[in-house]
Amino acid sequence: MEFSIETVRLTKAFGAIRAVAELDLRVQPGEIYGLLGPNGSGKTTLMRLLVGLAKADSGEARVLGRRMPDRGLLADVGYMTQAEALYADLTAHENVLFFAALSGVKTASWIGEALELVGLQARANDLVGSLSGGLRRRVSLACALVHRPRLLILDEPTVGVDPQLRVAFWEHFRRLADGGVTLVISSHVMDEAGRCDRLGFMREGRLIAEGSPEQLRQRSGTMDLEQAFLKFAEADHAA
Ligand SMILES: Nc1ncnc2c1ncn2[C@@H]1O[C@H](COP(=O)(O)OP(=O)(O)O)[C@@H](O)[C@H]1O
Ligand SMILES: [Mg+2]
Repeated sequence: MEFSIETVRLTKAFGAIRAVAELDLRVQPGEIYGLLGPNGSGKTTLMRLLVGLAKADSGEARVLGRRMPDRGLLADVGYMTQAEALYADLTAHENVLFFAALSGVKTASWIGEALELVGLQARANDLVGSLSGGLRRRVSLACALVHRPRLLILDEPTVGVDPQLRVAFWEHFRRLADGGVTLVISSHVMDEAGRCDRLGFMREGRLIAEGSPEQLRQRSGTMDLEQAFLKFAEADHAA
């Protein structure tokens, strides 16, 4: 079968630091894959390699069957960055419209639907600069979704988002996955990590453990994913 994402010994260094180090990752269509790891473990760099915004030093990344970087894939991939990439002096609606236009969206109703999905219809005409951090996260998500990509790469999408909306986000992620969309979501919030189909624990640019939340709990002998991560990290450090 064809993987949505397949990396082989993917490596990207900044000076002496290997942000991503000989990383092998495979993600199946319709899977929600969670990337977990502390700050600096390489999650964002890996995502940038996957969407073609960074070029690997060695190894390779195949995304939706194409070797990255490949600009032809932009219409099929949605990327929500960790840092905000919105226009403060445009409204929420105008921001989504702008991203839709960049991705070649021809169906006007998709813009309203994206705003509705993130619960922003009532604020659609507010300037983004006037919105709270949590509301701006929602606009960012709408921008990443509006062109209905087959692959969504979401870098810490729920930071600053209140618990109720966070649940709504995850319900939507699950609906998308059920419809065949592949999602890679980074997080350091362990309770939401439990909602992923599969998790990869990252440390120093490498995957130190991988499996379903249940498998990782069993293998580490703890019910708590945070404790599980620490156990795998200790074992990795000792090795
Ligand atoms: N543009 C850059 N220039 C120099 N170092 C970078 C750059 N981007 C990331 N790094 C370094 O690469 C490592 C991984 O960073 P990052 O991918 O942002 O991790 P995470 O998203 O898990 O916090 C860190 O040590 C970080 O300082
Ligand atoms: Mg990051």
